[in-house]
Amino acid sequence: MKFYIETYGCQMNERDSEEISSILRMEGLFEVDSPKNADIVFVNTCSVREKPSQKALSAAGRYIKSKNHRKRIVALCGCFAKQEGEKLRERFPDIDLVFGPQQIKDLPVLLGRVLAGKVSVVDVSDSGYVSEENFSEDFKGVTAFVNITKGCNNFCSFCIVPYLRGREFSRESRIILDEVKKRVGCGVKEVTLLGQNVNSYLDEKNNVDFVGLLEMVHEIDGLMRIRFTTSHPKDVSDRLIGAFGYLPKLCNHIHLPVQSGSDRILDLMNRKYDRKHYLSIIEKLRKVREDIAITTDIIVGFPTETDEDFGYTMSLLDEIKFDTAFSFKYSPRPLTRAYRELEDDVPENIKEERLGILQERIESIAQEKNRNLKGKCLEVLVEKKSEKFPGQYISRSSCNRVVNLISDCDLTGRIVKVRITEALKHSLRGELMKGEIYEKGRCGRNTA
Ligand code: SAH
Ligand code: SF4
Ligand code: F3S
Repeated sequence: MKFYIETYGCQMNERDSEEISSILRMEGLFEVDSPKNADIVFVNTCSVREKPSQKALSAAGRYIKSKNHRKRIVALCGCFAKQEGEKLRERFPDIDLVFGPQQIKDLPVLLGRVLAGKVSVVDVSDSGYVSEENFSEDFKGVTAFVNITKGCNNFCSFCIVPYLRGREFSRESRIILDEVKKRVGCGVKEVTLLGQNVNSYLDEKNNVDFVGLLEMVHEIDGLMRIRFTTSHPKDVSDRLIGAFGYLPKLCNHIHLPVQSGSDRILDLMNRKYDRKHYLSIIEKLRKVREDIAITTDIIVGFPTETDEDFGYTMSLLDEIKFDTAFSFKYSPRPLTRAYRELEDDVPENIKEERLGILQERIESIAQEKNRNLKGKCLEVLVEKKSEKFPGQYISRSSCNRVVNLISDCDLTGRIVKVRITEALKHSLRGELMKGEIYEKGRCGRNTA
């Protein structure tokens, strides 16, 4: 049987899809990269905002309709599936399987029930997390995501994630280390440690906190780079900031969602830090690594947000000069405190206007920063060949910028030095520096 997985949402969902794929392949099924010939289609959904939820619904509708001319199983999983549960069966009577993020490990059983009984199965219960996870040892990539925590306990008032992903759970450190080692054994050079709030990681059994875990992962031979996401500003400790000073494999980047520059709004969001605290973290980080890239998430139009509040967010952009930022219009989410207690009172046209102003400023700062990199030398990890442009490779700098470069030898998986020749809108172009392939082997005229 052939299966296809379509994924929406965050890196956790991407990692979940990878796990689904790995479990099914171990069961003898084949993964295909187009839904056309698939016998089973999975839609791994997100519901963090209205837009991804709509996408999940339309994808589900589309694939269920396709059952008219092709006998196939359609499964909905992930956060929107968890949110809607049984309601999806009412909406789509022909759906075969609905399961939540905590049912991935039970997938063979659930799928078996669908195949055996030809009945639809819905399971979105809170079954709890386990430390063990599946990943396939024939993994081909140079970079990999590794979960360190699951769930979230923070209950930011706008956010549905804690209601869908359950309470925070830290995987055991030895299991994480084992997974990273195995991944490195498969050729992985860079890992991103994943969690909704990695800073609160705690392996209680072995008394290992997040910095302790970073130190242990750093020891792994053959691993060249470490990233982590996401960090919550309330839990960024001085120890973590200090770790950037003595752990060279830690990439020169931190994603630190600020959400708003207004203390009044931050309080309503239940973020548990204020603007001053956020600024003090950035100052300390820049003392340890002068050129660390800082990226963030920002919400505009949170209930009661005034022009003045929005002004504080805008001034924060100028004070910090983020390398880039993801920005969103507030979207009321069922179950959350903001949805229950606050009226979504910022009119749509104002949200739209504020988002436009914000994004323009984010872009212009990001582009200015990119332009400043022109002529500079960056170390990049070459991730893959470009599918669009033969002869080109896609690489990433330690400060998380995509750098396209031309080479006539296969550089995949290598760290090389490039000189930045051009700053494009969302990426950079670079040329390989002579004699700078200093990892195993030499090839081509560039290494002369
Ligand atoms: N765990 C991460 C973020 C998870 S959600 C953290 O704490 O930073 C990713 C981003 O989506 C959030 O940072 C926030 O900016 C945005 N987001 C979440 N809920 C939202 C909502 N209801 N409306 C608009 N944006 C939202
Ligand atoms: Fe949502 Fe806040 Fe948890 Fe992030 S920390 S997942 S924004 S509740
Ligand atoms: Fe991720 Fe979306 Fe769920 S952001 S945790 S897939 S709601």
